[in-house]
Amino acid sequence: MEACLYHPGLGYYESGKNIIGTGGDYYTSPDIHPVFGRLIAKQIHQMARILGGDRFDVLEIGGGKGILAQDILGCISKNYPDLFKKINYIILDKSTALRDQQERFLSKFTEATERKVCWIRDLSELSGGLVGCILSNEFFDALPVHRTAMVNGGLSELFVTHKDGKFIETADRPSTEDLSRYLERIRISLREGSVAEINLEAVRMISRLGKILDKGFIITIDYGHHSNDLFSQSRRLGTLLCYYKHTLGADPFIRIGEQDITTHIDFTSLSLSGKDVGLEVTGFTDQMSFLMGLGIAQEMEYAPKEEFAAMKMLILPNDMGRTFKVLIQHKGMEQPVLDGLKFKAFFDPTILPE
Ligand SMILES: C[S@@+](CC[C@H](N)C(=O)[O-])C[C@H]1O[C@@H](n2cnc3c(N)ncnc32)[C@H](O)[C@@H]1O
Repeated sequence: MEACLYHPGLGYYESGKNIIGTGGDYYTSPDIHPVFGRLIAKQIHQMARILGGDRFDVLEIGGGKGILAQDILGCISKNYPDLFKKINYIILDKSTALRDQQERFLSKFTEATERKVCWIRDLSELSGGLVGCILSNEFFDALPVHRTAMVNGGLSELFVTHKDGKFIETADRPSTEDLSRYLERIRISLREGSVAEINLEAVRMISRLGKILDKGFIITIDYGHHSNDLFSQSRRLGTLLCYYKHTLGADPFIRIGEQDITTHIDFTSLSLSGKDVGLEVTGFTDQMSFLMGLGIAQEMEYAPKEEFAAMKMLILPNDMGRTFKVLIQHKGMEQPVLDGLKFKAFFDPTILPE
């Protein structure tokens, strides 16, 4: 999965092709309508008011085409000039091709006398602790996972090998004990025959992020579930999916480097690993409730017909509104109250196991 997505010459995210949007393979929320970025900007503004101080960092991870950064910065420069003055927007992206695209797209914010955006290739490049907000949309689902299966009463890992000119999966002893430790921590016992993807990279990442955040928030928007839902019998074959020209597939061994490969996120593990590094859960909700709390209904009231339809896509409960979840964590402050969390989610938002 790592090679298929990120190989320097052949990986999907390094192809330089248009992968997100109408001519690509899938849509993401920033691509659907700028209201998504505008409302996140509004949430960031409230966070900055809570934090106070004369500096506010935003670290966006996995910036894609740079649309979300553009919409957030555009809205902040127009509506919240005091915040714009003190904002420092940093983008971390693994893909060189996408980083080049982002730099071209965001030139307006880099050519001004006061440069507002900068890029890093690794978190170790940050010179000090962050004060502000770390943000990602559909980043964690793009991380390579371990595929495991319960075989003869024990946890096996599914490795990739080849036979007769084809890639095939083969079950063997897990490559690391971290896989069974991961399941123990969330108190999940897989049933015989079940397949489950385990995203060790995601928990490592949240742990690194928690450490570099001195004070502030982490907003994670992605498709996923509580661990009890993610590893339940209804998903006993896992959640690994492939996207190619807006069509869903389940075979990662075809169109190597030409299709996206993704899995659903385990938000319980993100919350638990966050707690280890001082991140408390501010709230966990769905995208519809998050955007409603920030005022999407008022934006829709005056929107022209086509824009109204696009905005509706972001919140439809049978689609992005419920599939996408929003986890907000905070560090270095008392439990804050945020507009994005004021409406109840469609599900039980208690994310941490008892
Ligand atoms: C599914 S795309 C989402 C893009 C964008 N956030 C959006 O909503 O349109 C995933 C993004 O994460 C980036 N990415 C994947 N793994 C990464 C890593 N380990 N560090 C930083 N960025 C990464 C990809 O290059 C890509 O920009």
